[in-house]
Amino acid sequence: MSRATSAGGKPPLYKIVMLGDSGVGKTSLVARLTNPERPLNHDISATMGIEFDTQMLDTEHGKVKAQIWDTAGQERFARVLLPTYFRKAKGVILVYDITNAKSFESLSERWMAQLNDHASSDDLAKLLVGNKSDLEASREVTKEKAEQFCQEYGMDMLETSAKSGQNVLQAFEKLIGIVHNRALAANKNKAGIQGMSSGGGGAAPSTVKLEDGKKGDAAGTDACGC
Ligand code: GTP
Repeated sequence: MSRATSAGGKPPLYKIVMLGDSGVGKTSLVARLTNPERPLNHDISATMGIEFDTQMLDTEHGKVKAQIWDTAGQERFARVLLPTYFRKAKGVILVYDITNAKSFESLSERWMAQLNDHASSDDLAKLLVGNKSDLEASREVTKEKAEQFCQEYGMDMLETSAKSGQNVLQAFEKLIGIVHNRALAANKNKAGIQGMSSGGGGAAPSTVKLEDGKKGDAAGTDACGC
């Protein structure tokens, strides 16, 4: 049995938040992940409230469930909702549009500050995603610039296209893999400490807390605490 599964075999559930300016493609990336065959919708309306979807993903330590919160990029919605977005989140995907320099600048000017204000940034696994890689001819943000950002804030990056599907699954799997590894390591430490305090004879099992999340509802909230 994988260390990532419980006696009941249910995968753990983690809350992941999508952040970034309006129009960078957050909703489109989630739609591509959950419905890989559906063509990109260009008439998609701006996200106004809280939307989330759950998706089973593979990691090197077995399957896990991601509860992906698609946030509103527009300032007037985001400001009010940010505390709810970040509550108990384990990972964040910071999205910019490679054809829009402003959306990249917003990451350091706006979104990283919001992150630090509303969440314990060190507790969150982060991934930088440059979306719309299919629009290479209109590129405004070089990979070098993005890599500098990653070095500064300590995270990895991928360029994706919600239109072609390039790197979309890989991006979500990369982040959830980091989140899951952290949870397993924290659990192992906890088990070690408990084992020491009970004289070393009864270490707690090194499993993460599990829940059976369902698409589109709030089931599984104990596991990710959201
Ligand atoms: P908010 O909900 O306002 O925060 O926006 P968002 O970040 O969710 O962006 P959304 O997914 O609504 O996409 C905005 C526009 O960009 C839509 O017209 C999409 O069709 C288009 N789009 C998204 N991803 C891509 C991509 O990878 N390539 C191209 N060419 N267009 C994309």
